[in-house]
Amino acid sequence: GDHLVLPEANYVGIAELARDTLPRFGIAVSYVDLNDLQAVADAIRPNTRMLWLETPANPTMKVCDIAALAELAHQKGVRDVAVDSTYATPIATQPLRLGADFVIHSLTKYIGGHGDAMGGAVIGRKKDLDALNLEASVHFGGVMSPFNAWLILRGAGTLPIRMRAHQEAALAVAKFLEAHPAVTRVFYPGLASHPQHEIAKRQMQNFSGMMTFQTRAPGPEIAARMIRELEVIHYAVSLGHLRSLICWIGTDDIQQSTFRHDAAALARYREFAGDGVFRLSVGIENGDDLIADLARVLR
Ligand SMILES: Cc1ncc(COP(=O)(O)O)c(C=O)c1O
Repeated sequence: GDHLVLPEANYVGIAELARDTLPRFGIAVSYVDLNDLQAVADAIRPNTRMLWLETPANPTMKVCDIAALAELAHQKGVRDVAVDSTYATPIATQPLRLGADFVIHSLTKYIGGHGDAMGGAVIGRKKDLDALNLEASVHFGGVMSPFNAWLILRGAGTLPIRMRAHQEAALAVAKFLEAHPAVTRVFYPGLASHPQHEIAKRQMQNFSGMMTFQTRAPGPEIAARMIRELEVIHYAVSLGHLRSLICWIGTDDIQQSTFRHDAAALARYREFAGDGVFRLSVGIENGDDLIADLARVLR
């Protein structure tokens, strides 16, 4: 009987859970554009238990105002505001300080940092976490293996220095892409052209290494060239690793498999993505090497 408010485009795992699984447990879900505070206010119902945020969001790179949204939700009686802060990392953003009740990180990404271990973290009130531990770990079996935990802890030690390197290389790559004639649009929170750059400047102490961009030539054609010709960047999914990773996210594919937007939301998604976007996770390599690699395939 609970109700959840979710962004209309976010990490596909959560988007699919909300669309396919939660309704079977009797949880209703509404989808909103988190940058439209009025739409968020309108979506909240008396039985809304949670507002879920993701910032920057995968794959739209939208940045939402955690403090404003947490205040709005709590004022309207929503108990929990949860923030998936995987893209930002704790180096960039501390959502609990901005009024959130839960923070979620995929440890598989920046925090582990090496692309060799899977894990996740939920940060929140002890009472809630105790309940979650009993249900998610003991009853459902979501327990991390000791070796994965060890790898992630080992990786986490270098997170601050890695994030500096991710940001430095990403800013150089984003500026290169923005100026490239074969590229039509770049979304990186550290660029002044990002639609929520002002929020990002306030809310992120590091702009991280994630970006998306679109090309003049059809994406699948360039993706095929990337697979053949890239030498430094790997054409692969996942993100937040030492090594740069790139992949093409076609709009038709992600709509069918995941978002299944109505006409208005689809129009908003297409306004961002067109036929699709390249998602680039900039690693900690030298920015000049990454730029040379991309220059090889963009034409
Ligand atoms: C924003 C975000 N949250 C969560 C996840 C889930 O990560 P994991 O692979 O650790 O399940 C991902 C994976 O891509 C993600 O991008």
